[in-house]
Amino acid sequence: MTELSFIHRYEPASEPARPPLLLLHGTGGDETDLLALGRTVSPGSALLSPRGKILENGMPRFFRRLAEGVFDEEDVRFRANELADFVAEARKAYGLEAPIALGFSNGANIAAAMLMLRPDALAGAALLRAMVPLQDAPKADLTGKRVLMVSGLMDPIIPVENSNRLAASLSESSADVQHETLPTGHGLSQTDLQLMLKWFAVSGE
Ligand code: MLT
Repeated sequence: MTELSFIHRYEPASEPARPPLLLLHGTGGDETDLLALGRTVSPGSALLSPRGKILENGMPRFFRRLAEGVFDEEDVRFRANELADFVAEARKAYGLEAPIALGFSNGANIAAAMLMLRPDALAGAALLRAMVPLQDAPKADLTGKRVLMVSGLMDPIIPVENSNRLAASLSESSADVQHETLPTGHGLSQTDLQLMLKWFAVSGE
């Protein structure tokens, strides 16, 4: 594997017309977690899957938190920029277009922060169980970027009000947002998969 600034897995595209995916795992995951999901939702896409650099009790994450759902926002900013720099490095090394992020939980939150702080790093994002990563984010121009958000009505970590606020702020930044709230918790369901399959099918056209 090419030496870049994050430990990562890379799978080249077998269908070059399909967009590359940036796979971002949840707390306690690693660079292998979302490979199968990425292959399923966007068959043939190149897959770029870094491992978060923060360790919380041995569990990899993409930024520090002070408590569950309470973020160290200075670190969120630093890590979102660091990850955007990695994406730029990997695009050069592997010859990729800007990827679509596919993030779960902590990975969705860092993807949302990247959209706000480094909008050029991503072509769009599928955010599974995401919450507002920064209380006071700069206003980005997300014109032309598609964002799928799938939230859980009974998610014990993310109040519905919070995910609605994130969807609203991405829409205000002119992203093309589809926000679905399912009668489920923090874990992924079959319906998440169906929504992603539909949403990613459009991005391959
Ligand atoms: C976070 O820390 O990003 C959220 O609380 C979600 C999680 O990773 O548990």
